[in-house]
Amino acid sequence: MIAYLRTLSGDPAPLPSAEAAVPEAATPEAVEQASGETSPEPAAETATATAEATDTTEATGGTETAAEGAAAGGFAALVASGDVAAGEKDFRKCAACHTVEEGGANKVGPNLWNVVNRPVAAHEDYKYSPALQEFAAGGAVWDYDNLSAFLQKPKDLVKGTKMSFAGIRDDEDRANMVAYLRSLASEPAPLP
Ligand code: HEC
Repeated sequence: MIAYLRTLSGDPAPLPSAEAAVPEAATPEAVEQASGETSPEPAAETATATAEATDTTEATGGTETAAEGAAAGGFAALVASGDVAAGEKDFRKCAACHTVEEGGANKVGPNLWNVVNRPVAAHEDYKYSPALQEFAAGGAVWDYDNLSAFLQKPKDLVKGTKMSFAGIRDDEDRANMVAYLRSLASEPAPLP
């Protein structure tokens, strides 16, 4: 990419001799080493693409049943009857950006161990967007309703969040996801 950008000039910047420069710069590892860190960007792009692709297929199924469930007892009731294994399976669309194990590393997004009922933007070592920090400043907590709204359409709940994810439109799929997130704790949050 940089070699191409270099050509976009009437007078391209000088380069060391081709033998010295080309073999190294040709591998992604070499580029990463040269910049001193691994870039999270490619993973983020892949994940967004996957998420959007999956989202389109999801939009067609299950909404009516879920809406009935939601009407009867709110989103938390859907979580109570949620399918943890289905949520875990679906989490692969989140896994490019999030780890879930206790003490796991932050990636593009923060580690999600024990996230249910945790204050928003509370992972100590992660640098959240100003938008999410502002949302958190009012004392917001990742309760079931906030998680549902965020996972349905992150940018609708938190305008300016840096979580690039289209969302999970289907209520039941979202409840399965939150049921899975709930299971990631030594003491899972209470359910209705
Ligand atoms: C493309 C990368 C990406 C994908 C895919 C992604 N996230 Fe995120 N997520 C982020 C980023 C970045 C943040 C931090 C947002 C901010 O600071 O505005 C975040 C934040 C969150 C938070 C808030 C955490 C906190 O500590 O406040 C939750 C919960 C969350 N993501 C859950 C999920 C779930 C569940 C999925 C899959 C359905 C998912 N994310 C998919 C990148 C991603």
